[in-house]
Amino acid sequence: MSKATFDPTRYNKSNNEPFNQVLDKHLSRRNFVKSGLGLGAMTAFTGMGLVGCGSDNSSSPTPVDPVPPLPPSKSSAKLNFTSVKGARLDAVVVPEGYTAQVLAPWGTPLNSKAAPWKADGSNTADDQANAVGMHHDGMHFFPLNDAGDDGLLCINHEYIDEIALHPNGPTVDATTGLRTIVDEVRKEINAHGVSVVRIKLTNNQWEVIYNDRHNRRFTGATVMDIAGPLAYSSLLETRYSPDGSQARGTLNNCGNGYTPWGTYLTCEENWPEYFVNRGSLTPDQIRIGISKTSSRYGWDDLAGQDEERLDEFSRFDVTPKGTSAQDDYRNEANGHGYIVEIDPYNPTSRAIKRTALGRFRHEGCTFGKLSEGKPVVFYSGHDARFEYLYKFVSAAPWDPQDANSSNRLEVGDKYMNEGTLYAAKFNENGVGAWLPLTLASQTTDGKTLGDTFASLAEIILNTAGAADLLGATPMDRPEWCAVDPFTGSAYLTLTNNSKRTEANPANPRLKNNFGHIIRWDEAEKETEFTWDIFVFGSPSDGNAETNLSGLTDLNQFASPDGLAFDKRGILWVQTDNGAKEVAEETNDQMLAIVPSTLLDSANKQASLTSNNQMELKRFFVGPNDCEVTGFAISPDYTSVFANIQHPGNWPYSNNAAEVTPTGVVLRPRAATVVIRKLDGKEVAV
Ligand code: FEO
Ligand code: CA
Ligand code: CA
Repeated sequence: MSKATFDPTRYNKSNNEPFNQVLDKHLSRRNFVKSGLGLGAMTAFTGMGLVGCGSDNSSSPTPVDPVPPLPPSKSSAKLNFTSVKGARLDAVVVPEGYTAQVLAPWGTPLNSKAAPWKADGSNTADDQANAVGMHHDGMHFFPLNDAGDDGLLCINHEYIDEIALHPNGPTVDATTGLRTIVDEVRKEINAHGVSVVRIKLTNNQWEVIYNDRHNRRFTGATVMDIAGPLAYSSLLETRYSPDGSQARGTLNNCGNGYTPWGTYLTCEENWPEYFVNRGSLTPDQIRIGISKTSSRYGWDDLAGQDEERLDEFSRFDVTPKGTSAQDDYRNEANGHGYIVEIDPYNPTSRAIKRTALGRFRHEGCTFGKLSEGKPVVFYSGHDARFEYLYKFVSAAPWDPQDANSSNRLEVGDKYMNEGTLYAAKFNENGVGAWLPLTLASQTTDGKTLGDTFASLAEIILNTAGAADLLGATPMDRPEWCAVDPFTGSAYLTLTNNSKRTEANPANPRLKNNFGHIIRWDEAEKETEFTWDIFVFGSPSDGNAETNLSGLTDLNQFASPDGLAFDKRGILWVQTDNGAKEVAEETNDQMLAIVPSTLLDSANKQASLTSNNQMELKRFFVGPNDCEVTGFAISPDYTSVFANIQHPGNWPYSNNAAEVTPTGVVLRPRAATVVIRKLDGKEVAV
């Protein structure tokens, strides 16, 4: 996102205690958590929580009959590659013995309705609707066979580079500055959303299977169903969907998730910018940041144009104009800001917006460790400065048989439409509380959310506004979350927050330009957790107050963003760096570490310090000007997929590591890169 125009402005005007203040006593609290001494509250943390802290697991819940083997509490994976040096090239860099292939770049035709990608930018809107979208982001691989060499890659497309998308950038009227060309705007809308792409591995090269029946695009215009508390709500009524059952398009799809039942989750992040309300903003529009003056790309400029179909451009102007909501698009933006579920295996299925998981600038969506008979938990961060971390807890208890259902979206209905949404409050003593967003929830001023909101649908519509009233902890831009398959510990990237003005012992940088990764373990009680800081981003030559994790030239990083565990327990950290101190040394990158094997002298999970920092190893460096984001891996662990978003002058060839020659100027293309070993064996170990 760092190259985008969007600046995550502070929309949060609540007076909740900022996270940096909460961190004041972090160092002493960390000692407390590690030693497990001191507070009676710790007695609440049994079972998975203690296992998560690396203790022996003798207190685990009684197994059901027949007795399943207890999972090991730590990974046996050992990283077996040499950390790559920082690089600033128009090429990617991988460890020795590895290859990197360009796969499915922007504009790759998915079917015969799309013309081949043209280097002059002249592909049409219809081409784009049938080709891979722009600015790849979150991603997941869904296998179609046991060998893992055939599957479906779901790819998010976060936003567009209008200069690269069109032959000469966007066309505007010289006098008014308004957009003038219908096909250009349709092409922009169609370059957003999600691609589902059939891919196969042949002779050590992955290829897109052209015209496969699974290939499809979800764009900024695709009709989607609404499920959960907002379904059929009057808050969603529009001229297009008078009963409030549908919304058109998914926008700014940043991080992603997937479900235990085999569906893809795409997360709507900076969607408010796509709309404009030139009248009076509603409280939720003010809180989330909808503009009173202009929309991000000016798609509403073409409202009322002769060629307009079904109000395709008018809907981005949410100013009330008719006599009721069914006469205009005042509620159009209310259909955005959600987690969207897609069944990639069923090419005729419709995408479903799961409103129960909250409406905000969702970065990602990650399910917690599963336990039969216990609810399914999803975590999602709200990526803007001083925003919150959320957790959704399903009403339905987990039934492992649902993992094998062929009615995957019905399983989604079961677990994702009813439940409780919580916002996180990080207390300074290393314990935290999940604050429920329900009508009965107590607010910090002694009232209830029911005094402000008339229904759960109203709470969801203004999720962040409701969390303000509960006293949730404002964070440094919560990005992706990942859950360790061995310990159940959850990790969250906090990418940066240059507006922080107060130092504290635990996070002493006046501006958090480099970001950090926090981690927590759920307690036995659904409303409690413990937490600590796993690693602080920093340049290697930062001082003792900046480089708190002792990073070196071989693993310095800033602005952690993408984050994923593979099932071997390897944590992959990707960066979207805006801090020049690190950017001068290396382009954005992907690092790897095995957190469950990092133990301190008391055999508890350790955080990163100068003593163990070498366990964090740089695996990959992206080309100039890019962001590295989105992670997927084949089931046999022989192919890692990572996305290169907004590269400057890349890719030059199918070999992602081939440097664009000096003097060659390319139309840049976001793309997936597949990283494999030359010998075809498991990567990273
Ligand atoms: Fe789209 Fe928060 O990164
Ligand atoms: Ca980012
Ligand atoms: Ca991101």
